[in-house]
Amino acid sequence: KEIPKIRTSLLEWYDENRRDLPWRRLSSGQDDVHVEHRERKAYAVWVSEVMLQQTRVQTVVDYFNRWMEKWPTIHHLARASIEEVNEMWAGLGYYRRARFLLEGAKMIVEGGGEFPKTASSLKMVKGIGNYTAGAIASIAFEETVPVVDGNVVRVIARLKAISANPKNSATVKNIWKLARQLVDPKRPGDFNQAVMELGATVCSPAAPSCSTCPISHQCQALSLSRSNESIQVTDY
Ligand code: ADE
Repeated sequence: KEIPKIRTSLLEWYDENRRDLPWRRLSSGQDDVHVEHRERKAYAVWVSEVMLQQTRVQTVVDYFNRWMEKWPTIHHLARASIEEVNEMWAGLGYYRRARFLLEGAKMIVEGGGEFPKTASSLKMVKGIGNYTAGAIASIAFEETVPVVDGNVVRVIARLKAISANPKNSATVKNIWKLARQLVDPKRPGDFNQAVMELGATVCSPAAPSCSTCPISHQCQALSLSRSNESIQVTDY
């Protein structure tokens, strides 16, 4: 009974508060049922998520737009040189991620060009790990899989009042498991983005805005901090 409430509240909040970002524009409508449209979206999600792993949203928007203008599809990207890719990436840092994007695009195109559509097949692509695979599979292909980044770890740790060290791999593994139970099978991509967005905006590390949080009634850390002064919702 808790889980359906969390899903509904989060998705309602997301529908009203989602930021209008370029990689989110390719969405909904009847086009969504076409394979080609979904593959385009998958490519856009892939590029944006790799950029977002190291950089703030505001900075990523410009880089993303320039990248998509130069290489609008995975087929365009597969024909690029590493020098062009590095030049486009200049300022974002962690150039290895840009190289993985290029190598991954080549791998997919040379393998026949069909975009892998499940998290498990996406993970076989160079540079795509659990996080990126989950993001692409859920956002572009509506597979019911979780996505866990630093923001999601914090949201779920607070929701479940998990006091174990969030840097510990056993804790992270447990949080992936909880995220898998939470993700809404009706709207997995939106649900995952809602949790990430909540963590980035409302459920911030030092000063969470619990009074505006759509799932504050389900939050165990908040309820504990109200009943026990020694536990603070900001300790996450
Ligand atoms: N941070 C990283 N990826 C994100 C996404 N798809 N939505 C919201 N925040 C994010």
